[in-house]
Amino acid sequence: LVASLEDVEESYIMIKPDGVQRGLVGEIISRFEKKGFKLKGLKLFQCPKELAQEHYKDLQSKPFFPKLIDYITSGPVVCMAWEGVGVVASARKLIGATNPLNAEPGTIRGDLAVQTGRNVVHGSDSPENGKREIALWFKEGELCEWTPVLEPWLK
Ligand code: TYD
Repeated sequence: LVASLEDVEESYIMIKPDGVQRGLVGEIISRFEKKGFKLKGLKLFQCPKELAQEHYKDLQSKPFFPKLIDYITSGPVVCMAWEGVGVVASARKLIGATNPLNAEPGTIRGDLAVQTGRNVVHGSDSPENGKREIALWFKEGELCEWTPVLEPWLK
């Protein structure tokens, strides 16, 4: 209606191993679904160390990096590609601050998490990284192009 095709972005959203172990998968997916974004890819996946290191390569020099890699590879994650107008910034708002104690109530981390090192979900921080991360975590053929019938009401 008002948004043009250029406003449509993609974000890589990932439920981290603690979210899977704690049974929060449905709860987390439903927040993005209810907001009105479009799911393009979804899989449960045991992440190899090399992929976790590549995904978080900008944080390589941080003291918490080894623990972060151990955490992300400690059990299956849920990989998701979400599409929509402004989805990158909006998903970051839905997710909340990195430290869950600073995350507003109503956000995923604000409602469901306590520790930075166990903050249940990842969301891309820019449209460029959204594209980069989706290409990193999904193979060709794992993403679906589809048109929801409600789409005109959300744009
Ligand atoms: P970052 O990209 O800064 O945060 P976000 O996930 O909100 O985009 O950091 C990536 C992840 O690294 C973060 O979700 C949890 C972990 N992390 C720590 O374990 N300790 C820290 O001090 C920080 C800043 C991040």
